[in-house]
Amino acid sequence: MRKVFIAGNWKMNMTHLETMKFLEEFGFKFGNKNKCDIAVCPPFTALRSAMTVINDDNLEIKLGAQNMYFETKGAFTGEISPDMLKALNVEYVILGHSERRQYFNETDKLINKKVKAVFENKLKPILCIGETIDIRESGREKEFVIGQLTDCLDSVDREDIVNITIAYEPIWAIGTGKTATSEDANNMCSAIRAKIAELYSSDVANAVRIQYGGSVKPSNISELMNMPDIDGALVGGASLKADDFLAIINY
Ligand code: 13P
Repeated sequence: MRKVFIAGNWKMNMTHLETMKFLEEFGFKFGNKNKCDIAVCPPFTALRSAMTVINDDNLEIKLGAQNMYFETKGAFTGEISPDMLKALNVEYVILGHSERRQYFNETDKLINKKVKAVFENKLKPILCIGETIDIRESGREKEFVIGQLTDCLDSVDREDIVNITIAYEPIWAIGTGKTATSEDANNMCSAIRAKIAELYSSDVANAVRIQYGGSVKPSNISELMNMPDIDGALVGGASLKADDFLAIINY
């Protein structure tokens, strides 16, 4: 049985003070009775403050980062290492988000190095893959997404892979208010699981959690979560308001 995993990707939003306010409000309303895994992924500058509130208030919320560099230390101005994240109790690292691919030219090859570095450092990747509207309209979406998956997982060990979360995020559904239909989203998540079974084994594929992301909100979460191959959500905009994020968690 895969445990549901709901994560909030805050993107470039929230100062450290806003983060503390959010987590205090969230923690107060949430009451530590979660039946699913929950993570928030604030900007790097807010991780330390988030860790403090999570520890002080004993919240059952995990911390995630939105990116990480694959080297351990050195002359890489502006980058963040695995050790820096581990020192802040970070457990998850979002990798390969479409915004990083689009605005910062991240390629599957680079993302693959990061996936391996995340595992070497006993962190857990949330690997994002998804197609553009042009690719979907041309009917090549499965081929494209499975290609991204295969390249990003190149030579990743079997023992590690059970700890990965795959986030299927069709780019045309991100921040647009357009959600993939739950059938389309589930279809792609099934194809992803089938490919993991082919690359590793069906046991591994059955253990890996696959999230859907793209305009997830309180009104569409139940339908998505009713689908057999969708194990959770990577939520952008709706994770920035404590009430909306709570409503999603309590779907
Ligand atoms: P929205 O929920 O704002 O569409 O963002 C989705 C996303 O990109 C999460 O990583």
